[in-house]
Amino acid sequence: MRKKIIAGNWKMNKALADGQSLALEVINLAIEEVPQDTQLVLCAPAIHLASLDDLLKSTAHVHLGAQNMSEHASGAFTGDISAEMLKSVGVQFVILGHSERREYHHESNELLSKKVKFALQNNLTPIFCCGESLATREANQHIEFVNKQIKDSLGDLNKDELQKVVIAYEPIWAIGTGKTASAAQAQEMHKSIRDFLATQFNQATADSISILYGGSMKPTNAKELLAQPDVDGGLIGGASLVARDFIAIALSF
Ligand code: 13P
Repeated sequence: MRKKIIAGNWKMNKALADGQSLALEVINLAIEEVPQDTQLVLCAPAIHLASLDDLLKSTAHVHLGAQNMSEHASGAFTGDISAEMLKSVGVQFVILGHSERREYHHESNELLSKKVKFALQNNLTPIFCCGESLATREANQHIEFVNKQIKDSLGDLNKDELQKVVIAYEPIWAIGTGKTASAAQAQEMHKSIRDFLATQFNQATADSISILYGGSMKPTNAKELLAQPDVDGGLIGGASLVARDFIAIALSF
């Protein structure tokens, strides 16, 4: 059975007090309403992480996530945050390769390969993001493009390592645009990612990986997306900033 995961990517939103109240609201609703077999992850800005860890200790199925991590262990990397630092404040998941990091911070598949390995060595679960632009989809290159992202960044993991990775398919044209991939488009890509993993590793390993969909997922479209056989959860941007909406998505399996 693959893990069902609904992760919230708060991106660069919420000052400390607002983040704490959002997390508290999510936790209280999660305790009352969300079944234990659905894992929630709050990927908050780095400044929030230390204070959220204490709040999150009250529930077993709400976890703490970061939005990025350095590929270096420590040293003269001004402004960066290491895996060890994330671990030290209770972080369990880390988003790697979000399209916004790829675009604004020029993160390449090769750099992300290093980050993924480094996260795994430090017992952090990478939420590895992949996804194509509109131009790539319109050129009908989306499958090849995503396969290459996966091969270049995850291709030299061994099976045990790969099994610890969560993949998030986020078509860039659907992020923050209100345009969601149709359930059929999401299923086609998720199945293709799984088939590709099966050719690179093996079927059992591919079958064990949770693949999340991200891109304008909200309470009104979550049910249809999550009903697809290869969609195992969601990576939620805008709707994760409203506790009721985030929980409604988590209740849509
Ligand atoms: P939106 O849900 O706001 O489209 O963002 C998706 C996303 O980028 C999550 O990482």
